[in-house]
Amino acid sequence: MHLINFKNLTGQQLAGIIDKAIEVKQNPEKYRMDLDDKSLAMIFQKTSTRTRISFEVAMTQLGGHALYIDWRTTNFTMADIYDEMKYLSRNVDCVMARLKKNADLQIMAKASRVPIVNGCDEKYHPSQVIADLMIMKEKKGKLKGVKLVYIGVHNNVCNSLIEGCTKLGVKITTVTPIFNELSRDEELLEDARKTGLYETTLNVRQAVGDADFVYTDTWVDMEFFTDPKYATEKEKRDKLMMPYQINKELLKESDAYVMHDMPIHRGYEISRDVIESLKSIIYEQSENRLYSAKAIILKLLGKY
Ligand code: CP
Repeated sequence: MHLINFKNLTGQQLAGIIDKAIEVKQNPEKYRMDLDDKSLAMIFQKTSTRTRISFEVAMTQLGGHALYIDWRTTNFTMADIYDEMKYLSRNVDCVMARLKKNADLQIMAKASRVPIVNGCDEKYHPSQVIADLMIMKEKKGKLKGVKLVYIGVHNNVCNSLIEGCTKLGVKITTVTPIFNELSRDEELLEDARKTGLYETTLNVRQAVGDADFVYTDTWVDMEFFTDPKYATEKEKRDKLMMPYQINKELLKESDAYVMHDMPIHRGYEISRDVIESLKSIIYEQSENRLYSAKAIILKLLGKY
């Protein structure tokens, strides 16, 4: 079993991972040696703070070991991904990969004889969204019937939120004036529409009116953020997206919790005062990456 996105998971299986993450958080000692002698390879083509740290610490706290692998220092750069993966998966028990292209991750998954976790590609970010759904359940005591509003650019996180929410009975409204074409997955959107739980609008004020959670993310994907060739597009996006910033004015009549998957770009997708406000659960949400990483690896290695 791989975790590339949520397509092969039933709602019940996804709910099981979230509940396990909550249990692992409450009883860390119980799982202290569950992955004794197990190794996780973590291979990164892009930068990361949370994904790297949470999976590495998760493996240590579960009694196992994680290897951080910078793609640029390996022969993945010059050889066939399939062959390199055949080799890698004979040495470790699980692989977490953050790649630029989902197509390359699919090649890895075909070649691998151990489970693969998608550490965020251009289409999906499932490990993030498991942490997100976890904090939502912790805050509301349930997921079914809860409403999340995602405001920002339609991207990989947005796709995984739509997929995860609609599998678990969460109503999700997206307010996304820009669509990252690289993230487009019509099948995912069509499946979500069929549930009646997903809608999209540009009326941001109306959308946040009855929201339980308001969520935002970067307007520019990490691999382009400091790229000089992307500067004009970044400037264009900043202008177009500014009316959709999450700020005190937008939330003045809202009681919603505020979420962000981080890294945060203060003053762009979210204002400074909202990040620090009482309704912000951003840092707690990011802390949950650790417990959800544990629950994901335990699941993929057949521990529950
Ligand atoms: N949210 C998230 O995946 O953080 P990193 O990019 O720092 O891993």
